[in-house]
Amino acid sequence: MSSDAIDFCLPDASWNRRVRRSLLTWFRRNARDLPWRRNRDPYRIWISEVMLQQTQVETVKPYFNRFVKRFPRVEVLANADEQEVLRHWEGLGYYRRARQLHRAAKMICDEYGGQFPRDPDEVRALPGIGRYTAGAILSIAFDAREPIVEGNTLRLYSRLLAYRDDPRATSGQRVLWSFAESVLPRQQTGEFNQALMELGSLVCTPRSPQCDECPVKSLCPTYGHGWQDQIPTAAKKIVYEDVNEVAVVVRKKNAVLLRRCGEGERWAGLWDFPRFRSEDPTQSPPELEERVQQLTGVRVEDAQWVTEIKHAVTRYRITLSCFEAHYQSGRKRSGEECAWVTVDQLSDYPLSVTGRRIGRLVAAGAFGKSAAL
Ligand code: ADE
Repeated sequence: MSSDAIDFCLPDASWNRRVRRSLLTWFRRNARDLPWRRNRDPYRIWISEVMLQQTQVETVKPYFNRFVKRFPRVEVLANADEQEVLRHWEGLGYYRRARQLHRAAKMICDEYGGQFPRDPDEVRALPGIGRYTAGAILSIAFDAREPIVEGNTLRLYSRLLAYRDDPRATSGQRVLWSFAESVLPRQQTGEFNQALMELGSLVCTPRSPQCDECPVKSLCPTYGHGWQDQIPTAAKKIVYEDVNEVAVVVRKKNAVLLRRCGEGERWAGLWDFPRFRSEDPTQSPPELEERVQQLTGVRVEDAQWVTEIKHAVTRYRITLSCFEAHYQSGRKRSGEECAWVTVDQLSDYPLSVTGRRIGRLVAAGAFGKSAAL
């Protein structure tokens, strides 16, 4: 064991060598055939890593394929309309990622002539790219010697080190990043980093890890002690907040009113039915009408409750009361902010998750059975 600047002893060089050898051999036999692994195009690797930041591999696959088919190169993405980028992200959640990806694509074209930068500081300066994502892209695309720590590797490293404090705390992060750096080979860093993630994801799972199948179990002190259930220490429990909201489908002839969510709102950049928080989800019509007018400029009448939708997003548990109302008077706010849209056109607009659910209900005739939509 050799000690580092950190207050924790990292494994020695011979242990590192054995881990590298065993893991690379295992990965060559067990790597999943994932769409972003078919070549080493930094653009595709970047897209996949951003999608994978908060989303599972199986969910990402179809989104990735659709995204790179529509935006096959960074120039195509940079020149695309943000609405279309968001439309291709719809359903993946954390939409800030898509907007940052779009901004980063413009920067890569404007500042680096469309070539993905290779300098770690330049990569980390791109919107939406932190230390992990930069390390993953640079190692996988260019075999740069850059370490990674993300969800799967945080668990794997904690167990390989039998690290019993909180690996998410500042001191824990320092230990794990130092370990990630010290265990990294000089070459084949991309393959090795992917092998670490793959082992964490397929074998060294949060509950009931498949230690029998693990290529490094003989090197793992957590396995030796039977501490798999205690390491890593449990993450802080998420405290959920219940939120009541009201959404209103405003009809004018064969169109419904959409509003684009502004900066700072939860669904910034996406479109939605006029929506607001409300302590009273049954909403008496005068209040509802006033709120819709504040949001859109349009006066409505005949508000009627139609249905309730439950939805959880990040730490919020939302109960959404859905109303229908009819256009009475007034002009909607100008172009970018509000739009009258027919049901057929709804699919052209990137909508919030619940906005899309309401849109589907509208298309299925669940709202306003009397109205001819
Ligand atoms: N999770 C994040 N990045 C990944 C990758 N490149 N392969 C598998 N799982 C991942």
